[in-house]
Amino acid sequence: MSRATLTYLSGFGNEFASEALAGALPEGQNSPQKAPYGLYPEQFSTSAFTVPRAEARRTWMYRILPSAAHGKFERLEKQRQGCQSGAITPNRLRWNPLPIPDAATDFIDGLITMAANSDAPQGITIHLYRTNCSMQRAFFNADGEMLIMPEQGRLRLVTELGILEIEPEEIAVIPRGMKFKVELLDDTARGYLCENHGSPFRIPDLGPIGSNGLANPRDFLIPVAAYEDVDQPTQLVQKFLGEFWATTMNHSPFNVVAWHGNSVPYKYDLRRFNTIGTVSYDHPDPSIFTVLTSPSAVTGQANCDFVIFPPRWMVAENTFRPPWFHRNLMNEFMGLVRGEYDAKAGGFVPGGCSLHNVMSAHGPDAITFINASSATLKPQKIEHTMAFMFETHSVIRPTQYALECEQLQTDYDDCWADMPKTFNKNQI
Ligand SMILES: [Fe+2]
Repeated sequence: MSRATLTYLSGFGNEFASEALAGALPEGQNSPQKAPYGLYPEQFSTSAFTVPRAEARRTWMYRILPSAAHGKFERLEKQRQGCQSGAITPNRLRWNPLPIPDAATDFIDGLITMAANSDAPQGITIHLYRTNCSMQRAFFNADGEMLIMPEQGRLRLVTELGILEIEPEEIAVIPRGMKFKVELLDDTARGYLCENHGSPFRIPDLGPIGSNGLANPRDFLIPVAAYEDVDQPTQLVQKFLGEFWATTMNHSPFNVVAWHGNSVPYKYDLRRFNTIGTVSYDHPDPSIFTVLTSPSAVTGQANCDFVIFPPRWMVAENTFRPPWFHRNLMNEFMGLVRGEYDAKAGGFVPGGCSLHNVMSAHGPDAITFINASSATLKPQKIEHTMAFMFETHSVIRPTQYALECEQLQTDYDDCWADMPKTFNKNQI
């Protein structure tokens, strides 16, 4: 893997480049009459041609056969589970982890859609995945880019531009439309997937924080070119307007020998996040933990913010340190990759998830409130944890599956049922 910076904030249109054979990249132009080694040039665009330069994303691929060399796509009999929207509910929801299936289940068959606000062309769809075998087929998603976050099991992502390996506490992002397959490096794997239908993720502006901090650009890794020259039938599946369609190619789709551009898959180790917090009193809004953001048309109101709650020191004086009680405009889907989350004493475990939509009142449970209100305050490190949140501008609607599955905790409201009344008008 090459170490490289994400350039999406640059106004200069920076590019990455990689070639698996020396001289495979044409010099000085994108599409010569005859490309080196008899390769086919192909442009892959994940932004409109005419967006501002800082928003433009495209990659030129030099491949053994063009992507166009395939037959008709047919709708797959087997569609993903649970994709129908469930009944409208304003309730706070929380789920236990889903079990890993016993039957052979690859990454595509193991996708369970939990919730979505995919009001095209923006919005997100949130899935869980559980898998016990490597994909023997290739996949691309015409509906959005995909942020993959393992909770159990390492993954090897074979993409058109090369190979990325990720493990729990790392993420990978695959551009909309890029072909890839998921191979398992352990017996089973489970995790979270955010499908982003809006503008591509990028690292946020830093404002007064300055030129360093949060997720640092140098920690984002991209693959180097790697290709297969294999002429054997390969099924290619695509997700298109929510449905799975498939065709069979007579060659490997991972046949890109060289490429240059800035629409690339990348990985990031969440443990490298530079966590910033208070050194006096209170604590900032959780936006201070934003790793990646997908802006919407409304400045500052994200289509999706990907936020994490990593290990960190708590030092605030005279302060209630866990997340406070709150009611927000934004809609929050949370999950847990590792350990415990400091706002909940129980019920929120790795692999589980929760949903708090617009204006739903939530915050620490009763036990956490009581303990944190009376704790002796001293510098304390929250360790061995990695919670995350997808925060988005419009209501996240759970699927029918999510509302009917046995992992839904029907007693979630009870964690706030025993809040002690501590008001005493005679004592300040
Ligand atoms: Fe919240």
